[in-house]
Amino acid sequence: MKIIIKDNYNQMCEEASKVMKEVILKEDVILGLATGSTPIGLYKLLVEDHKTNKTSYKKIQTVNLDEYVGIPQNHEQSYFTFMHEQLFNHVDIDPKNINLPRGDVKDLNKECQRYNELLAKKIADIQLLGIGGNGHIGFNEPGTAFDSVTYITDLQEKTIQDNSRFFDKIEDVPTKAITMGIANIMAAKKILLLASGVNKAEAIKELVLGDININCPATVLRNHPDVVIIVDKDAASLL
Ligand code: GLP
Repeated sequence: MKIIIKDNYNQMCEEASKVMKEVILKEDVILGLATGSTPIGLYKLLVEDHKTNKTSYKKIQTVNLDEYVGIPQNHEQSYFTFMHEQLFNHVDIDPKNINLPRGDVKDLNKECQRYNELLAKKIADIQLLGIGGNGHIGFNEPGTAFDSVTYITDLQEKTIQDNSRFFDKIEDVPTKAITMGIANIMAAKKILLLASGVNKAEAIKELVLGDININCPATVLRNHPDVVIIVDKDAASLL
């Protein structure tokens, strides 16, 4: 596991964009993508790079980690909308190469199966991750088995609280999500985890220094052969 500590959020994003670009330039690759506020600066840099250097996404495929259950795909807070607003609408990606799980279909079990089968065929060359304040990755909350594959998860109180900043009121925050399981995430060839701010310091400390255990899902990454963690000083403050 390689840990890179940068002075601030912008520098963290700069460093992350270099790691991502190295993979993107190979062109015929699969990017595992993440949502949340942490990767926004990185996506901005990738869009800038596409515009300035004409880096192409024509042959790139993507798989996203997760999606809320119970809100329509075109909801302003869906991860589908987020990804289009932050990245997909601004690069030359082919819409048919974009893959996200759907949280607005009737048969969610069937959707889990569909997405899982898709992931078995589309192994990410790099999987981007943020981290929840409680150490979750994707929407794999503390207690999730390390051999889990795409499933419907109940979001924990802390996650609902954390995500309530994006909704008008806390009652509007979805309480369930469809997420890649931990085994799906670990199947990626390379993993890039970003964290910024003091509210991530405990989770980063646990990830780097704690025992590998299901109560902090991110600790599983220590079992992966190629992980890069880029954090800012605040997120690294307890190391
Ligand atoms: C959500 C997402 C995660 C993300 C986490 C942290 O729960 N499902 O993929 O890592 O939020 O988000 P933020 O980057 O906004 O702190």
